[in-house]
Amino acid sequence: MISKQIFGHLPDGRAVEQISLINANGMQIDILNLGGIIRRWLVPTPSSEQVDIVLGFDTVEDYLADQAYLGALVGRYANRIKHGKFTLKETRYQLDANQGGNSLHGGVDGFNRRLWQTSVISQALNPSICLQLTSEDGDQGFPGQLKAEVIYTLTEENSLRIEYRASTDQATLYNPTQHSYFNLAGHQSGDIDSHQAQILASHFTPTDSNAIPSGELAPVANTPFDLRELTPVKVGLASSHEQIKFGSGYDHNWCLDGYRADLQQPFFAAMALETQSGRKLIVNTTMPGVQLYTANFLGSEPIGKEGVSYQGNGALCFETQFYPDSPNQPHFPSAMLEKGQTFYAVTEYQIVL
Ligand code: BGC
Repeated sequence: MISKQIFGHLPDGRAVEQISLINANGMQIDILNLGGIIRRWLVPTPSSEQVDIVLGFDTVEDYLADQAYLGALVGRYANRIKHGKFTLKETRYQLDANQGGNSLHGGVDGFNRRLWQTSVISQALNPSICLQLTSEDGDQGFPGQLKAEVIYTLTEENSLRIEYRASTDQATLYNPTQHSYFNLAGHQSGDIDSHQAQILASHFTPTDSNAIPSGELAPVANTPFDLRELTPVKVGLASSHEQIKFGSGYDHNWCLDGYRADLQQPFFAAMALETQSGRKLIVNTTMPGVQLYTANFLGSEPIGKEGVSYQGNGALCFETQFYPDSPNQPHFPSAMLEKGQTFYAVTEYQIVL
Protein backbone atom coordinates (compact mmCIF):
# COMPACT_ATOMS: atom_id res chain seq x y z
CA MET A 1 0.00 0.00 0.00
CA ILE A 2 1.06 3.58 -0.62
CA SER A 3 -0.11 6.72 1.15
CA LYS A 4 0.92 10.33 0.59
CA GLN A 5 0.89 13.46 2.67
CA ILE A 6 2.35 16.95 2.57
CA PHE A 7 5.44 17.00 4.81
CA GLY A 8 6.16 20.74 4.54
CA HIS A 9 7.21 23.44 2.11
CA LEU A 10 10.46 24.74 0.64
CA PRO A 11 11.27 28.45 1.13
CA ASP A 12 10.01 29.09 -2.45
CA GLY A 13 6.61 27.60 -1.56
CA ARG A 14 6.91 24.24 -3.32
CA ALA A 15 5.36 21.38 -1.36
CA VAL A 16 7.52 18.55 -0.01
CA GLU A 17 5.61 15.28 -0.13
CA GLN A 18 6.06 12.26 2.06
CA ILE A 19 5.20 8.95 0.44
CA SER A 20 4.78 5.87 2.65
CA LEU A 21 5.44 2.39 1.30
CA ILE A 22 3.72 -0.19 3.51
CA ASN A 23 3.93 -3.95 3.10
CA ALA A 24 1.76 -6.79 4.44
CA ASN A 25 4.26 -7.55 7.25
CA GLY A 26 3.69 -4.19 8.92
CA MET A 27 6.86 -2.57 7.63
CA GLN A 28 6.62 1.08 6.58
CA ILE A 29 9.15 3.29 4.83
CA ASP A 30 8.49 7.03 4.50
CA ILE A 31 10.21 8.73 1.58
CA LEU A 32 10.37 12.43 0.74
CA ASN A 33 10.36 13.81 -2.80
CA LEU A 34 13.01 16.20 -1.36
CA GLY A 35 16.31 14.44 -2.03
CA GLY A 36 14.61 11.03 -2.22
CA ILE A 37 15.17 11.01 1.53
CA ILE A 38 14.26 7.91 3.54
CA ARG A 39 12.82 9.72 6.56
CA ARG A 40 11.43 6.84 8.61
CA TRP A 41 11.76 3.07 8.44
CA LEU A 42 9.33 1.42 10.83
CA VAL A 43 9.79 -2.26 11.55
CA PRO A 44 7.34 -4.47 13.46
CA THR A 45 8.41 -6.09 16.72
CA PRO A 46 6.95 -9.07 18.66
CA SER A 47 5.42 -6.63 21.18
CA SER A 48 3.53 -5.04 18.25
CA GLU A 49 5.29 -1.71 18.81
CA GLN A 50 7.14 -0.41 15.77
CA VAL A 51 10.79 0.58 15.92
CA ASP A 52 12.17 3.31 13.63
CA ILE A 53 15.59 2.14 12.45
CA VAL A 54 16.84 5.21 10.54
CA LEU A 55 17.86 8.67 11.71
CA GLY A 56 15.97 11.65 10.35
CA PHE A 57 14.28 14.98 10.99
CA ASP A 58 10.76 16.24 11.54
CA THR A 59 10.82 19.38 9.36
CA VAL A 60 11.89 20.55 5.91
CA GLU A 61 13.96 23.32 7.55
CA ASP A 62 15.99 20.73 9.45
CA TYR A 63 16.66 18.78 6.25
CA LEU A 64 17.81 21.97 4.51
CA ALA A 65 20.14 22.73 7.45
CA ASP A 66 21.49 19.17 7.60
CA GLN A 67 25.14 18.68 6.56
CA ALA A 68 25.21 14.92 7.17
CA TYR A 69 22.99 13.77 4.28
CA LEU A 70 20.59 11.88 6.58
CA GLY A 71 18.69 9.33 4.49
CA ALA A 72 19.32 11.14 1.19
CA LEU A 73 20.00 10.11 -2.36
CA VAL A 74 23.46 11.39 -3.22
CA GLY A 75 24.60 12.52 -6.68
CA ARG A 76 26.06 13.10 -9.12
CA TYR A 77 29.16 11.69 -7.45
CA ALA A 78 28.85 10.15 -4.00
CA ASN A 79 31.96 10.55 -1.82
CA ARG A 80 35.04 12.58 -2.67
CA ILE A 81 36.90 13.75 -5.74
CA LYS A 82 40.30 15.18 -4.92
CA HIS A 83 40.31 18.98 -5.19
CA GLY A 84 37.12 18.60 -7.26
CA LYS A 85 39.28 18.09 -10.38
CA PHE A 86 39.13 15.44 -13.08
CA THR A 87 39.70 14.97 -16.81
CA LEU A 88 37.17 13.34 -19.10
CA LYS A 89 37.70 12.92 -22.86
CA GLU A 90 40.69 15.27 -22.62
CA THR A 91 38.69 18.08 -21.02
CA ARG A 92 39.63 19.23 -17.54
CA TYR A 93 36.73 19.90 -15.16
CA GLN A 94 36.61 21.76 -11.86
CA LEU A 95 33.81 20.92 -9.46
CA ASP A 96 32.71 22.82 -6.48
CA ALA A 97 35.24 21.90 -3.72
CA ASN A 98 32.66 21.95 -0.94
CA GLN A 99 34.44 20.01 1.80
CA GLY A 100 38.02 20.41 3.00
CA GLY A 101 39.21 21.46 -0.47
CA ASN A 102 37.63 18.39 -2.12
CA SER A 103 34.30 17.74 -3.79
CA LEU A 104 31.95 15.75 -1.54
CA HIS A 105 28.63 14.13 -2.46
CA GLY A 106 28.05 16.08 -5.67
CA GLY A 107 28.64 19.61 -4.38
CA VAL A 108 26.82 22.21 -2.31
CA ASP A 109 23.55 21.82 -4.21
CA GLY A 110 23.63 18.06 -4.69
CA PHE A 111 20.80 15.69 -5.59
CA ASN A 112 19.97 15.41 -1.86
CA ARG A 113 18.59 18.97 -1.96
CA ARG A 114 16.50 18.67 -5.12
CA LEU A 115 12.79 18.12 -5.43
CA TRP A 116 12.37 14.92 -7.47
CA GLN A 117 9.34 14.18 -9.69
CA THR A 118 7.55 11.17 -8.23
CA SER A 119 5.09 8.66 -9.64
CA VAL A 120 3.56 5.47 -8.29
CA ILE A 121 4.53 2.27 -10.10
CA SER A 122 2.66 -0.24 -7.97
CA GLN A 123 0.30 0.09 -5.02
CA ALA A 124 -0.17 -3.57 -4.33
CA LEU A 125 1.99 -6.37 -2.90
CA ASN A 126 5.36 -4.75 -3.52
CA PRO A 127 4.66 -1.00 -3.29
CA SER A 128 6.93 0.87 -5.64
CA ILE A 129 7.61 4.49 -6.64
CA CYS A 130 9.75 6.18 -9.25
CA LEU A 131 11.70 9.40 -8.66
CA GLN A 132 13.09 11.41 -11.57
CA LEU A 133 15.46 14.32 -11.80
CA THR A 134 17.07 16.21 -14.67
CA SER A 135 20.47 17.66 -13.84
CA GLU A 136 21.49 20.27 -16.41
CA ASP A 137 24.82 20.47 -18.23
CA GLY A 138 27.28 22.20 -15.87
CA ASP A 139 25.29 21.41 -12.73
CA GLN A 140 27.81 21.77 -9.82
CA GLY A 141 30.52 21.67 -12.53
CA PHE A 142 29.62 18.26 -14.03
CA PRO A 143 29.41 17.97 -17.83
CA GLY A 144 26.33 16.84 -19.76
CA GLN A 145 22.63 16.92 -19.09
CA LEU A 146 21.92 13.86 -16.91
CA LYS A 147 18.50 12.32 -16.60
CA ALA A 148 18.41 10.28 -13.40
CA GLU A 149 15.76 7.86 -12.19
CA VAL A 150 15.52 5.96 -8.92
CA ILE A 151 12.94 3.28 -8.18
CA TYR A 152 12.20 2.38 -4.57
CA THR A 153 10.32 -0.90 -4.03
CA LEU A 154 9.44 -2.37 -0.65
CA THR A 155 9.13 -6.12 -1.11
CA GLU A 156 7.25 -8.80 0.77
CA GLU A 157 10.68 -10.04 1.93
CA ASN A 158 11.15 -6.78 3.88
CA SER A 159 13.71 -5.54 1.43
CA LEU A 160 13.97 -2.02 0.02
CA ARG A 161 15.15 -2.47 -3.54
CA ILE A 162 16.74 0.68 -5.00
CA GLU A 163 17.25 0.73 -8.75
CA TYR A 164 19.29 3.54 -10.29
CA ARG A 165 19.11 4.41 -13.98
CA ALA A 166 20.56 7.39 -15.84
CA SER A 167 21.45 8.64 -19.29
CA THR A 168 23.41 11.65 -20.49
CA ASP A 169 23.85 13.69 -23.68
CA GLN A 170 27.64 13.96 -23.14
CA ALA A 171 30.26 11.87 -21.32
CA THR A 172 29.99 12.49 -17.59
CA LEU A 173 30.43 10.85 -14.18
CA TYR A 174 27.65 9.14 -12.28
CA ASN A 175 28.08 7.55 -8.87
CA PRO A 176 24.81 7.60 -6.95
CA THR A 177 24.27 6.26 -3.44
CA GLN A 178 21.77 6.16 -0.60
CA HIS A 179 22.93 7.75 2.64
CA SER A 180 20.65 6.21 5.27
CA TYR A 181 21.95 6.18 8.83
CA PHE A 182 20.82 2.90 10.40
CA ASN A 183 20.52 2.13 14.06
CA LEU A 184 18.84 -1.26 14.24
CA ALA A 185 18.05 -0.77 17.93
CA GLY A 186 16.04 2.34 17.02
CA HIS A 187 17.03 5.87 15.92
CA GLN A 188 16.84 7.10 19.52
CA SER A 189 19.30 4.51 20.85
CA GLY A 190 22.33 6.79 21.06
CA ASP A 191 25.13 4.42 20.08
CA ILE A 192 25.91 1.39 17.94
CA ASP A 193 27.76 -0.58 20.62
CA SER A 194 25.40 -3.52 20.20
CA HIS A 195 26.01 -3.70 16.44
CA GLN A 196 28.23 -6.12 14.57
CA ALA A 197 29.21 -5.62 10.94
CA GLN A 198 30.34 -7.83 8.11
CA ILE A 199 31.70 -6.79 4.71
CA LEU A 200 32.66 -9.38 2.09
CA ALA A 201 35.81 -7.64 0.94
CA SER A 202 39.45 -8.70 1.12
CA HIS A 203 40.75 -5.23 0.19
CA PHE A 204 39.97 -1.64 1.06
CA THR A 205 41.19 1.75 -0.17
CA PRO A 206 43.32 3.46 2.51
CA THR A 207 43.19 7.24 2.49
CA ASP A 208 45.24 10.25 3.49
CA SER A 209 44.12 12.34 6.45
CA ASN A 210 41.65 14.16 4.14
CA ALA A 211 39.83 10.92 3.24
CA ILE A 212 41.28 10.80 -0.29
CA PRO A 213 42.42 7.29 -1.35
CA SER A 214 46.16 6.85 -1.92
CA GLY A 215 45.36 4.51 -4.82
CA GLU A 216 46.48 1.40 -2.97
CA LEU A 217 44.15 -1.59 -2.71
CA ALA A 218 45.30 -2.81 0.70
CA PRO A 219 44.59 -6.28 2.08
CA VAL A 220 42.26 -6.18 5.08
CA ALA A 221 43.95 -9.16 6.76
CA ASN A 222 45.27 -8.34 10.25
CA THR A 223 43.68 -4.90 10.30
CA PRO A 224 40.43 -3.52 11.83
CA PHE A 225 39.16 -3.49 8.23
CA ASP A 226 38.90 -7.27 8.17
CA LEU A 227 35.15 -7.61 8.56
CA ARG A 228 34.88 -10.81 6.54
CA GLU A 229 33.29 -12.37 9.63
CA LEU A 230 30.68 -10.55 11.74
CA THR A 231 32.66 -8.32 14.13
CA PRO A 232 31.55 -5.91 16.86
CA VAL A 233 31.86 -2.41 15.39
CA LYS A 234 33.12 -0.99 18.67
CA VAL A 235 36.26 -3.16 18.48
CA GLY A 236 37.36 -1.41 15.29
CA LEU A 237 36.31 2.02 16.57
CA ALA A 238 38.58 1.56 19.59
CA SER A 239 41.58 0.59 17.47
CA SER A 240 44.68 2.78 17.27
CA HIS A 241 45.21 1.89 13.58
CA GLU A 242 46.30 4.99 11.63
CA GLN A 243 43.40 4.65 9.17
CA ILE A 244 40.86 4.60 12.00
CA LYS A 245 42.51 7.75 13.37
CA PHE A 246 42.35 9.43 9.93
CA GLY A 247 38.63 8.68 9.62
CA SER A 248 37.85 9.29 13.31
CA GLY A 249 36.30 5.82 13.07
CA TYR A 250 35.19 3.82 10.05
CA ASP A 251 34.77 6.12 7.04
CA HIS A 252 36.33 4.00 4.32
CA ASN A 253 35.64 2.23 1.08
CA TRP A 254 35.82 -1.56 0.86
CA CYS A 255 36.44 -3.27 -2.53
CA LEU A 256 33.68 -5.85 -2.71
CA ASP A 257 34.84 -9.35 -3.63
CA GLY A 258 31.54 -10.20 -5.36
CA TYR A 259 31.72 -7.35 -7.88
CA ARG A 260 31.90 -8.01 -11.62
CA ALA A 261 31.34 -5.41 -14.35
CA ASP A 262 27.87 -5.51 -15.97
CA LEU A 263 26.14 -7.29 -13.10
CA GLN A 264 22.36 -7.05 -13.42
CA GLN A 265 21.52 -8.81 -10.17
CA PRO A 266 22.92 -7.75 -6.80
CA PHE A 267 25.25 -9.93 -4.73
CA PHE A 268 25.53 -10.18 -0.95
CA ALA A 269 28.00 -7.46 0.05
CA ALA A 270 27.58 -6.63 3.74
CA MET A 271 25.42 -6.96 6.78
CA ALA A 272 24.88 -5.62 10.29
CA LEU A 273 23.47 -7.45 13.29
CA GLU A 274 22.01 -5.77 16.37
CA THR A 275 22.68 -8.30 19.07
CA GLN A 276 19.92 -7.36 21.55
CA SER A 277 16.96 -7.47 19.17
CA GLY A 278 18.56 -9.97 16.77
CA ARG A 279 17.56 -7.61 13.92
CA LYS A 280 19.74 -7.76 10.81
CA LEU A 281 20.36 -5.49 7.86
CA ILE A 282 21.55 -7.26 4.73
CA VAL A 283 23.09 -5.21 1.91
CA ASN A 284 23.10 -6.59 -1.62
CA THR A 285 24.42 -4.54 -4.52
CA THR A 286 25.74 -4.48 -8.07
CA MET A 287 28.23 -1.69 -7.20
CA PRO A 288 32.01 -2.28 -6.76
CA GLY A 289 32.45 -0.64 -3.36
CA VAL A 290 30.80 0.18 -0.08
CA GLN A 291 31.61 2.98 2.35
CA LEU A 292 31.03 1.95 5.92
CA TYR A 293 30.61 5.23 7.76
CA THR A 294 30.03 5.06 11.51
CA ALA A 295 28.55 8.58 11.69
CA ASN A 296 31.81 9.89 13.15
CA PHE A 297 31.03 13.53 12.46
CA LEU A 298 27.35 13.46 13.34
CA GLY A 299 26.48 16.41 15.56
CA SER A 300 23.52 17.20 17.77
CA GLU A 301 22.22 19.91 15.39
CA PRO A 302 19.65 19.96 13.91
CA ILE A 303 17.73 18.03 16.57
CA GLY A 304 16.51 14.71 15.22
CA LYS A 305 13.04 13.15 15.01
CA GLU A 306 10.91 13.26 18.15
CA GLY A 307 13.37 15.65 19.79
CA VAL A 308 16.19 13.11 19.84
CA SER A 309 19.67 14.62 19.89
CA TYR A 310 21.89 12.47 17.66
CA GLN A 311 25.55 11.86 18.50
CA GLY A 312 28.74 10.71 16.82
CA ASN A 313 28.75 6.92 16.31
CA GLY A 314 24.98 6.82 16.79
CA ALA A 315 24.38 5.03 13.49
CA LEU A 316 26.02 3.27 10.59
CA CYS A 317 25.79 3.85 6.85
CA PHE A 318 26.50 1.34 4.11
CA GLU A 319 26.94 3.56 1.04
CA THR A 320 27.29 1.42 -2.07
CA GLN A 321 29.41 3.24 -4.63
CA PHE A 322 32.27 3.49 -7.07
CA TYR A 323 35.47 3.95 -5.10
CA PRO A 324 36.15 7.52 -3.91
CA ASP A 325 38.19 9.69 -6.30
CA SER A 326 37.86 7.03 -9.04
CA PRO A 327 38.12 9.65 -11.86
CA ASN A 328 41.74 10.24 -10.75
CA GLN A 329 42.65 6.58 -10.22
CA PRO A 330 42.64 4.80 -13.60
CA HIS A 331 42.88 1.33 -11.99
CA PHE A 332 39.64 1.84 -9.99
CA PRO A 333 36.35 0.75 -11.66
CA SER A 334 35.20 3.70 -13.76
CA ALA A 335 32.19 5.90 -12.97
CA MET A 336 32.15 7.38 -16.47
CA LEU A 337 28.80 7.34 -18.24
CA GLU A 338 28.88 7.92 -21.99
CA LYS A 339 26.27 9.36 -24.31
CA GLY A 340 24.04 6.51 -25.53
CA GLN A 341 24.69 4.29 -22.48
CA THR A 342 22.14 3.63 -19.75
CA PHE A 343 23.50 3.52 -16.24
CA TYR A 344 21.94 0.72 -14.18
CA ALA A 345 22.70 -0.31 -10.61
CA VAL A 346 20.75 -1.99 -7.82
CA THR A 347 21.19 -1.91 -4.06
CA GLU A 348 18.92 -3.74 -1.64
CA TYR A 349 18.63 -3.16 2.08
CA GLN A 350 16.83 -6.12 3.60
CA ILE A 351 15.72 -6.22 7.23
CA VAL A 352 15.62 -9.65 8.85
CA LEU A 353 13.43 -9.50 11.93
C1 BGC B 1 31.50 10.56 4.17
C2 BGC B 1 31.87 11.25 5.46
C3 BGC B 1 30.97 12.45 5.61
C4 BGC B 1 29.54 11.97 5.60
C5 BGC B 1 28.54 13.08 5.70
C6 BGC B 1 30.09 10.10 4.29
O1 BGC B 1 29.71 9.46 3.12
O2 BGC B 1 32.36 9.47 3.90
O3 BGC B 1 33.22 11.63 5.44
O4 BGC B 1 31.25 13.14 6.80
O5 BGC B 1 29.28 11.24 4.44
O6 BGC B 1 28.74 13.99 4.69
